[in-house]
Amino acid sequence: MPVQPDPARPSLFTWEFAADPYPAYAWLREHEPVHRTTLPSGVEAWLVTRYADARQALADSRLSKNPVHHSAHAHRTGRVGIPGERQANLMTHLLNIDPPDHTRLRRLVSKAFTPRRVAAFEPRVQQLTDRLIDGFAARGSADLIHEFAFPLPIYAICDLLGVPAEDQDDFRDWAGMMIRHGGGQRGGVGRAVKRMRSYLAELIHRKRADLGDDLISGLIRASDHGEHLTENEAAAMAFILLFAGFETTVNLIGNGTYALLRNPGQRALLQDSIARGETGLLETGIEELLRYDGPVELATWRFATSPLTIGGVEIPVGDPVLVVLAAADRDPARFADENTLDLARTDNPHLGFGHGIHYCIGAPLARLEGRAALATLLTRLPDLQLAESPENLRWRGGLIMRGLRELPVEFTPE
Ligand code: HEM
Repeated sequence: MPVQPDPARPSLFTWEFAADPYPAYAWLREHEPVHRTTLPSGVEAWLVTRYADARQALADSRLSKNPVHHSAHAHRTGRVGIPGERQANLMTHLLNIDPPDHTRLRRLVSKAFTPRRVAAFEPRVQQLTDRLIDGFAARGSADLIHEFAFPLPIYAICDLLGVPAEDQDDFRDWAGMMIRHGGGQRGGVGRAVKRMRSYLAELIHRKRADLGDDLISGLIRASDHGEHLTENEAAAMAFILLFAGFETTVNLIGNGTYALLRNPGQRALLQDSIARGETGLLETGIEELLRYDGPVELATWRFATSPLTIGGVEIPVGDPVLVVLAAADRDPARFADENTLDLARTDNPHLGFGHGIHYCIGAPLARLEGRAALATLLTRLPDLQLAESPENLRWRGGLIMRGLRELPVEFTPE
């Protein structure tokens, strides 16, 4: 007798799935927590959906980030997915390498990209946030993705890196190409990546002769036991900071605002607490928004370099493993009331920033931007509401990230 497919087995990677992947992930967590699937690109990969397995996999040194370990598709698909990165010579970045190279590069960047540098950047982020809201506050309506969530992180990272103000709109355009087309029009995206790469190489060259107090100068200056970043490594590092810190933060602001608008009770609590000048609920709230509907749905590619089992399932050498952060962070075995947004949740070791040696190096900056964006929006536009019914909102397709294409809102003009 042929085996009948389970009628309840959900379809992955459809439009319905993109709009709300959580029921499908709940099914997988319960029935096939380590699930072999064919991705839309045709590549076979394992999806890891339970919290305990996900956390273990993220810290397992037998899972390499280096695409050369991918058995079948090493040079075609097995990488973080920056179109044009090979041609632009950007492959050697943190998300594609293992120790000891990773340890060396991460140590060097950590010397420049310090929590102190990020904390000192707070007034600038606040200024950028206010300037962007000034752009639409008198209108009474806006698309919060295009007018707010999208430009804020790109200007913030450009400023932090030391990209001169007059060049930042070029970055905005290049980043726009990358986020709009993701996997689609690869030619155009590849061109944008190459332009960004050559711009950064040239900027690094100029800064070397005239060091300032920006992050690029910090990367050039950074040394560890006499070691420095080469110019190519510094360019790849600046690029990965931009690339990893951009769409993720767009999605934190977009998904976060959307979740608040759909949970009016929680939003009111947050609004009251901000109005009282408290910061506690905003801080736990950002963590909860990262857990509840985080920017990174799947962690980046990992490849088995020796036989291993995850959740009792044997993973053959060379197979790609994708840790589904969005599924792990709603695992009822770890999070009580997993589908409830509870901004005051304190027992919240979510995996939204990853775990292990590749844990997000930009987390302090992302939190800072998230806090400034949400607190300022809710304070300046207190009756902010959705201008479109949720079923009509479109989510960007794409494997790794989860974010809205647009977020139309209305409010009483300022
Ligand atoms: C790594 C999430 C913002 C730079 C990661 C990882 C996650 C993540 C999940 C680990 C990926 C993996 O292990 O496969 C996020 C989220 C953000 C955010 C949710 C916003 C809310 C930023 C920002 C920057 C940044 C603002 C820099 C400006 C990086 C870098 C890595 C990384 C360079 C690689 C670290 C390594 O491999 O050692 N991020 N990120 N991220 N993130 Fe973020």
